[in-house]
Amino acid sequence: MPSLELVLLAALLLGGGSAEAAQEHILFSVIQISSFANQSWAQHQGSGWLGDMQSQGWDSESGTIIFLHTWSKGNFSDEEMIDLELLFRVYFIGFTRETQEYAGQMHFGYPIEVQVRAGCELHPNDTAESFLQAAYGGSHFLSFQDMSWVPAPEGDSRAQSVCDLLNQYEGIRETTHRLLTHTCPRFALGLFDAAKADYKRQVKPEAWLSTGPRPGPGRLLLVCHVSGFHPKPVWVMWMRGEQEQQGTQRGDILPHADGTWYLRVTLDVAAEEVAGLSCRVRHSSLGNQDIVLHWGGGNSALLTLLWFVATGSLLVLLVGHFCLRRHSSNWKALAPAVPSPESPTRADGQGPRTLRHQVYTPQESWIKNRFLKKWKTSLNQLWGR
Ligand SMILES: *[C@@H]1O[C@H](CO)[C@@H](O)[C@H](O)[C@H]1NC(C)=O
Ligand SMILES: *[C@@H]1O[C@H](CO)[C@@H](O)[C@H](O)[C@H]1NC(C)=O
Repeated sequence: MPSLELVLLAALLLGGGSAEAAQEHILFSVIQISSFANQSWAQHQGSGWLGDMQSQGWDSESGTIIFLHTWSKGNFSDEEMIDLELLFRVYFIGFTRETQEYAGQMHFGYPIEVQVRAGCELHPNDTAESFLQAAYGGSHFLSFQDMSWVPAPEGDSRAQSVCDLLNQYEGIRETTHRLLTHTCPRFALGLFDAAKADYKRQVKPEAWLSTGPRPGPGRLLLVCHVSGFHPKPVWVMWMRGEQEQQGTQRGDILPHADGTWYLRVTLDVAAEEVAGLSCRVRHSSLGNQDIVLHWGGGNSALLTLLWFVATGSLLVLLVGHFCLRRHSSNWKALAPAVPSPESPTRADGQGPRTLRHQVYTPQESWIKNRFLKKWKTSLNQLWGR
């Protein structure tokens, strides 16, 4: 009975769909970074994050939450946000005072750097985990577990002392526990719902190539810039044909102000081996259409100049050839301007986002590579290497 099969199939598909929708890991976290330069000077930074996306900031001057997006309040009412704001304000005042008071007693020498990360993670199976971890001087110091403060295994006796002190305050423990296990998951769910359009948006990367600082004599640093993509996961690799180049070095994925991401992937390679290399970019926004940029540039100003001359002569020859044959259909493949090997890149490594992809036709690459090889050979002969 095909109709029953259809119903079953539909149920299966729909079921699969909703199961997939529930398959979201939702992570909300707040981050605190506090610096105490001396007995009288302290500075706090606070931020709220939905996964990789910053959703809130903290204005420590006025003690108020900065809502970075229209959806930054999730489904909480203004009153509820004001209550939370007040709670954080009181917390920061208390934290500053207690730290300054106990720093001497507990032998914490200035400057003091404290980092706190707290939040909750909701799993697809409707379970939630909460966490609060604090670091002192960049190392794990203590955490909050099952209603009490626990020193980090790597923490010293001071971590134990701080926990002993904190554990005396029943009220603080209860509030912390409630915030982490009750308020956080509720807020995270509402926030995720409100942020969905932004959170799930697919923005295609732009990519371009340049050279970096010379790693050594006879070597080149090829740089593949990938910019403006969302979401964050991306795969970028230097390739020779289908062969992944093991020397590929991946930088950190850095944020743009608009919430998209930037990544720089480099390859240190012998100058005579650049021909045939390409940078391949795979990202969810691209579907199966990877971006492939072929390395087509020379490696020095002189080479670039010679390259221009060579291409010029080539064009003249080809124009002659094509005019004779009255063929003009291939013009398009030859017309694109010669790509400069030193693509403009700002000193901060983040090139302008307006640069279009440099995608060459195989024909162009082939011609370029042939000529490049020739010029390089002559050049090497000229300079005796
Ligand atoms: C405390 O540190 C701040 C910031 O470094 C500095 O400007 C200030 O002069 C210091 N005050 C004292 C009393 O050392
Ligand atoms: C917000 O959404 C969450 C999850 O959907 C829900 O549990 C909560 O009751 C909603 N409202 C408020 C004010 O938290």
